[in-house]
Amino acid sequence: MKADEGISVGLMGLGVVGSGVARTLLQKAGALARLVGRPLVLRRVLVRDLHKPRTVEVPRALLTTNPEELLANDDVDVVVELMGGEHPALEYLQRALAAGKHVVTANKEVLAKHGAVLLDQASAKGLHLRFEASVGGGIPIIGPLTRDLLGNEISSIRAIINGTTNYILTRMARDKVDYATALREAQGLGYAEADPTNDVEGIDAAYKLAILATLAFRTRVHATDVYREGITRLEAKDFRYAHELGYQIKLLAIGRQVNGAVQLRVHPAMVPLETSLAKVDGAYNAVEVEGDLAGKVMFHGLGAGALPTTSAVVGDLLEIARLLAANAPVVQRLALDPDSHVCPMDDLVTQYYMRLNVADRSGVLAQIGRILGDLDISIASVIQKDADRRTGTAELVIMTHPGREAAVQEAWRQVARLGVTDRLNTLIRVEAA
Ligand code: NAP
Ligand code: HSE
Repeated sequence: MKADEGISVGLMGLGVVGSGVARTLLQKAGALARLVGRPLVLRRVLVRDLHKPRTVEVPRALLTTNPEELLANDDVDVVVELMGGEHPALEYLQRALAAGKHVVTANKEVLAKHGAVLLDQASAKGLHLRFEASVGGGIPIIGPLTRDLLGNEISSIRAIINGTTNYILTRMARDKVDYATALREAQGLGYAEADPTNDVEGIDAAYKLAILATLAFRTRVHATDVYREGITRLEAKDFRYAHELGYQIKLLAIGRQVNGAVQLRVHPAMVPLETSLAKVDGAYNAVEVEGDLAGKVMFHGLGAGALPTTSAVVGDLLEIARLLAANAPVVQRLALDPDSHVCPMDDLVTQYYMRLNVADRSGVLAQIGRILGDLDISIASVIQKDADRRTGTAELVIMTHPGREAAVQEAWRQVARLGVTDRLNTLIRVEAA
């Protein structure tokens, strides 16, 4: 970049988010130039298919299917990667950094698996690597964790960080819409990943939690360190019973410091109805961070969709452009604690909701109670729900007092083997207020 020139952007991807970013760069060019002090120039746009109809009018000459036109182009100062997926995005990001280009990405998969390597590479070359859009869509959370809350010892993060699943759970709980319809709606609204399995199986939320936990707990976290369960096993009955018991079911991403280690998990959780997290609906996301200085801070906003995500990408781009325009040095912002580690899920202690179908006859409850008691799991309540005269079975909903995860999983296995058990339905962890 020469002193009197604009800052050139190479955009990779012109899908849901890429289109929003291209439109903003083209339509708000004057306002953005005033903010930076130089124009931001969209130099090249990488796509897979040149002939695909687009929701944004980008001059045809800017489109290319050849990544070299961005990566090997001296005119490109900043690469904005909005293709998604691990490959070839990772290789393109590495090549962009190797070629001395600053990078903005929304790619949580790449960051959750290779973030530390990319940050090291960027740092070694004195380049900016920004990724605000990778977690929480339009919610600023990477900036606060790496800057505003930096002086805190963070003790916990509790978050709803997947818009697709929160949209589905809200539609199922509030509007009694079936799972498949709600998923189709989320896809139509542009919230879902290219492969929605990543959303509904909690993979996307686990990627995001890995990124947040790395920054908050200064621990090197890989996506595979996060315990994960998705929402596909939940049934309409679970939402009804949860409500009767005073809870909402949410896909929570939880990171917590426990005795010097970090506990990381993504799973459906029963959240008390009166809490803020229970009230986060639709494609909204929320991240609650607890620090020793700031106390509890809650970030809330639209976590998916073209415009909120564009907001985060453009914010990163503007920050880089301003720093470049000011010739400011790059600050290395990730200082990891080599002693910090992730603790096993088995050590979790929490309350559980269990829903199962058993033979509707005397002595059955006593057998189940004995298994739980022998494993030191105390029952808080048992409710017998629908009895089916035809099959001679009844549905039980058991709420436990806090118990150890390993013991509860063992109890669940032993109950499954009882001759009186017809079906194990759902086991949901309860998250205290
Ligand atoms: P998308 O709609 O599927 O768009 C992907 C774009 O990348 C398309 O334009 C596609 O080209 C292009 N592309 C994909 N692979 C390519 C390749 N190998 N070579 C060249 N171009 C390629 O995805 P998106 O929803 O915008 O998501 C983009 C990124 O933002 C992902 O990392 C996603 O996780 C993240 N994100 C998305 C949201 C959201 O709400 N959608 C929110 C936050 C973060 P064609 O159009 O020619 O097929
Ligand atoms: N598929 C993601 C979601 C997009 O539903 O939250 C935002 O990262």
